Amino acid sequence: MRKSIFILTALAAAMTANASTEGISVEHTGPTNTFVRVDTDKAPYLMIPIEENQDDALVTIIADGVAVGNFYVRFSREEVDFKVPFDLTPYRGKKLILDFQKPRSVVLRKGEEPVGFEALELADSFSTDNVEKYRPAYHHTPLYGWMNDPNGMFYKDGLWHLYYQWNPYGSKWQNMTWGHSTSRDLVNWTPMPEAIRPNALGTVFSGSAAVDRTGSAGWGENAVVAMYTSAGHSQMQSIARSADNGYTFSIYEGNPVLVMETEARDPKISWNGETGEWNMVLAHALNHEILFFTSPDLKEWTRTDSIGNVGATGGVWECPDLFPLTINGKQKWVLLVNINPGGPFGGSATQYFIGDFDGKTFTPDADANGEIPTKWMDFGKDLYATVTWSDAPQDRRVALGWMSNWQYADQVPTMQYRSANSLPRDLSLFEAPDGQLYLASAPSPELNDIRGRKYAGSGRFAVSKKGKTFSLPKTGGGICEITADIDASKGSAVAFTLSNAEGEKVTISYDASAHTLKFDRMHGTFTDISHHFPAVTGAPTFETDGHLSLRIFVDRSSIEVFADGGKSVMTNLTFPENPYTTLSVSGDGKAAVSSLNVYEIKTK
Ligand code: FRU
Repeated sequence: MRKSIFILTALAAAMTANASTEGISVEHTGPTNTFVRVDTDKAPYLMIPIEENQDDALVTIIADGVAVGNFYVRFSREEVDFKVPFDLTPYRGKKLILDFQKPRSVVLRKGEEPVGFEALELADSFSTDNVEKYRPAYHHTPLYGWMNDPNGMFYKDGLWHLYYQWNPYGSKWQNMTWGHSTSRDLVNWTPMPEAIRPNALGTVFSGSAAVDRTGSAGWGENAVVAMYTSAGHSQMQSIARSADNGYTFSIYEGNPVLVMETEARDPKISWNGETGEWNMVLAHALNHEILFFTSPDLKEWTRTDSIGNVGATGGVWECPDLFPLTINGKQKWVLLVNINPGGPFGGSATQYFIGDFDGKTFTPDADANGEIPTKWMDFGKDLYATVTWSDAPQDRRVALGWMSNWQYADQVPTMQYRSANSLPRDLSLFEAPDGQLYLASAPSPELNDIRGRKYAGSGRFAVSKKGKTFSLPKTGGGICEITADIDASKGSAVAFTLSNAEGEKVTISYDASAHTLKFDRMHGTFTDISHHFPAVTGAPTFETDGHLSLRIFVDRSSIEVFADGGKSVMTNLTFPENPYTTLSVSGDGKAAVSSLNVYEIKTK
C-alpha cells in the first residue's frame, strides 16, 4: 500500500481573500483514502476545489477522533472548476481530519496526483459576488451551489420565508440540506444561513413548515414547525422546531415521526381550522399515490386516505400540496402533484386535481365523462416541485416552483450557482368553457412594483406578415416585461419573436382558431445543453372571442408567459449567447394588437 505524506506549499489560484495553504496537511492513507488534517484555529473556511465532471468522493468529518458527519464532493482530480467553502468554525479547538474516500480514483490510473490536494486552501472569507451572466436579475437564486425544490415556505410578521433543497458543496445534486432566504416583497431575496442540516437520520429532503398557532406540538404558541423527509438508508418523516421564527431549527429528538415500508417523501402540513387538527399530504413516490394523514400535535400521525393511479403517472409522484380556494362563494380543494418524468413535454412538471376534502378524505371532481382529468399547472418545460406558502396574508395562496427540469437541470451553463425559482404566482380557480374548474397562476401583485420605465410600445396596429419590430432594453442583460393585448377575433394567428444579432430566437405564438399558445425554443445554442432542451411547448387558452392578453417576463435565462391573468402559463429557460434585442410581432395579416408595451424592470 502506497503511503505518502506531504505538506502543501504552493498557493493555488485564489478565488478567496487571504487564502493560504499553511495549516493543511495531506496524508494518503492508502490508494482509496486520504486524510486532510486542518488547523481549525487558522481560518474559518477550508476552500475545497471542485471538478464538476468527476465522480463524488465521500468525505467523513472526524473531530477529535469521532466521525461527526459526512458529505460528498466532486473533488478536483485534473482541473479546478471552482471552490466551495467548508465551514471550520464548529470544529474550532478540535483536531479535525477530513477523510476523503476515493479522491484519487481517476488520476491514480495515470500515475498522477489529484490537483485538488494542492489547491485546498484556508481562507478568511470567500466571495459570493456574481460571476454568472445567466444569473437572473429578479428571480430567487442561491448565492452559490446547487438548488432544487422550494421547501417549507411560510409567511410570518411581514416576512416571506423560502427554504430550498441546497447542495453547499457543489453545483450538482448532493448533500441535501435546507438553504434559506427571506423577502418582504417576494421578489428581492436576502440570503440567510442554512436552516436545517443533515443528521444521523440522513440528509434533509423536501418538506413544509407552518406556524403552530395553538402550540399543539408543545413548543409554544406560534412556534414555527418544519416537517421534512430524512433521507438515509430509507425515507422517513421528521420534524424540527424553530424558536426564532424560522432562522434556526432544532431537530426533534423523537424523530422519525412517520415511517413507511417504501419510498415516501415531501410532507406538506397545514392546520385545518375546521377540524382543529393538522393535515398532511405525503408522496408515495413509486406507487403514484398521495397519502393523507391527520395529527393533533405533528408527532402522532394517522393515515386517513390515499389517491393514486389517476392523472399522469409516467414517473414518480413528489412534492404534493393541498389547499382550499373559493370560487363563487364555494370552497374547493386543490391537490398539487409534481411528477418526474411524465410531464407534457418530457421530464418533470406539476399536475393538479380539484375536488372536495372533509379533513380526512379527498374526492376529486370528474369531468362530463366521469373521468378524472389530467390538468397541468404550467405548459412550459421548466416549472417543477411547485408548492405554496403557508400562512400567507389576506387568504392569498402564493405558489413558487423550481424553474428547471430534471432532464437537464445539472447541465445548464452556470457553475457558481445552479437553478433559480420561478416568479411567485397567486393562485385562483376559474370555470372554463368546458364547464370544468381550472387553476389560474397569475403573476403576484408584487411584480407590478418592479415594472420600470416604458421602453417601447405601440397603440393598436394590424399584425402584418412582415411584422412590426420593437427594440428591447439593453441594460440589465435584456431584462424586461412585455405586455400585449391581442385582438384576433377573426380567428387568426400572431407570433412574438425575441431575437438577437447572433440569430438566436424564441417565438411565442397564439393561434386563436386552435385556442393555443406556443413557445418555441428550437433556435439557439440550446442543443449544447442537452438534446432534451430544444422544444416547442404549448398551452390551451380559454378565451372565446379571440382576445388574449399577455404578460411576458424576460430575465437573463428565463421567459415566463402569462395569458389572461394566469389561465394559461408557460415557464421556459433560455440561454441566449447575448440578450435578445428585438421583438418582432408578425401574423397572417388578419389579427391586430390593440396595445403593446415593453417595460424595463426595476432591480435593487
Ligand atoms: C423533487 C425531489 C423530492 C425530494 C428532493 C430531493 O425534485 O426528488 O422528491 O425530496 O427532490 O432533493
